[in-house]
Amino acid sequence: MNQQQTLTELFEKTFGHQPTHYFQAPGRVNLIGEHTDYNDGFVLPCAIDYQAMIATSPRDDQKVVATAHSYDGQVSEFELSLPVSHSEEAFWSNYVRGVATVLMEKGMSLKGVNIAIIGNVPQGAGLSSSACLEVVTGLTLTRMSGLDVSLKELALIGQKAENEFVGCKCGIMDQMISACGKEDHAMLLDCRSLDTRLVPIPQNAAVVIINSNVKRGLVDSEYNTRRAQCEAAAQHFGVKALRDITLDQLEASQSELDELTYRRARHVVTENDRTLAAAEALARGDLKAMGRLMAESHISMRDDFEITVPAIDGIVDIVKAVIGSEGGVRMTGGGFGGCVVALIPEEKVDAVKQAVHEHYPTYSNGLVADIYVCRASQGAGEL
Ligand code: GLA
Repeated sequence: MNQQQTLTELFEKTFGHQPTHYFQAPGRVNLIGEHTDYNDGFVLPCAIDYQAMIATSPRDDQKVVATAHSYDGQVSEFELSLPVSHSEEAFWSNYVRGVATVLMEKGMSLKGVNIAIIGNVPQGAGLSSSACLEVVTGLTLTRMSGLDVSLKELALIGQKAENEFVGCKCGIMDQMISACGKEDHAMLLDCRSLDTRLVPIPQNAAVVIINSNVKRGLVDSEYNTRRAQCEAAAQHFGVKALRDITLDQLEASQSELDELTYRRARHVVTENDRTLAAAEALARGDLKAMGRLMAESHISMRDDFEITVPAIDGIVDIVKAVIGSEGGVRMTGGGFGGCVVALIPEEKVDAVKQAVHEHYPTYSNGLVADIYVCRASQGAGEL
């Protein structure tokens, strides 16, 4: 049974009738540009062919009644006409509750719906399982209420729900690529203006994601600490965000900053430059240049931003030994575990899989990696 059939079965079992509409929003992998989004900088992600999907039907009342396949069909409901509270027992529903709250705060009048949710983006792996749930929820609630809200606006609404309702101070990258991704393309996103430029992924290149399966500990606190360090550095220079600083400016002021703040800022400033260069390299199909930039990005995350872990560094070394200069590999996502992304010639995929299976156990304390060969996919939409 495919994902949509399983979803339909859950919907019918829960609500006793057929859904009227289906919506989906994909997860994402970031090729380069890490921890730059909340510094108003640049990122280069693509949407992947793993997604959150919702089956829905209208209701006669003002309730949202939701059920989730990943949580054994647990049901959680709330009233749109009353202030929406957090749920302790159904944590997943807080993404739905948060998005509904932000939409209504913006003055939108929502109609009651039944919704069933399914997803195949691995949770807690740094592939944006939360962001795609926010985006698909926003799409469902607005479209079922007859509201034509743009995908960009839905991305911002999802981020606001996560920042204010769920409590994670994420940037805008994940929701934007889930909402606005394009098949076979990566998206260069200016996180200040939200301008986008689509960059085709070269035809012979495979996007390979290797999930270390290292449980991401302390993610939220470490993430928020990095964010605060970046803000402190920007404040030192009297600018809105680190996006506004050049490497020359940063180096000229090195003695005024403490060593840690300097290194954190150096990661962001150099990563922005690398991301712009990577978009150019990808556009001309130059996998070698892309490989160099991804390697530098990984070293910068490891040594300056300090968000990698030994198992992740191990995977990067294993893959690099196979691909040499023919493509790139780096940690992707927020850090402290999660996934590695490789952009490699298709004919290297089998050798990379083989090498990871053979050598990863040396670094991983017995953990086994999951490998996904992905296709850059279309962003959110109705099915
Ligand atoms: C997480 C956040 C994003 C971004 C990345 C790091 O995925 O949700 O906004 O900051 O980390 O690049």
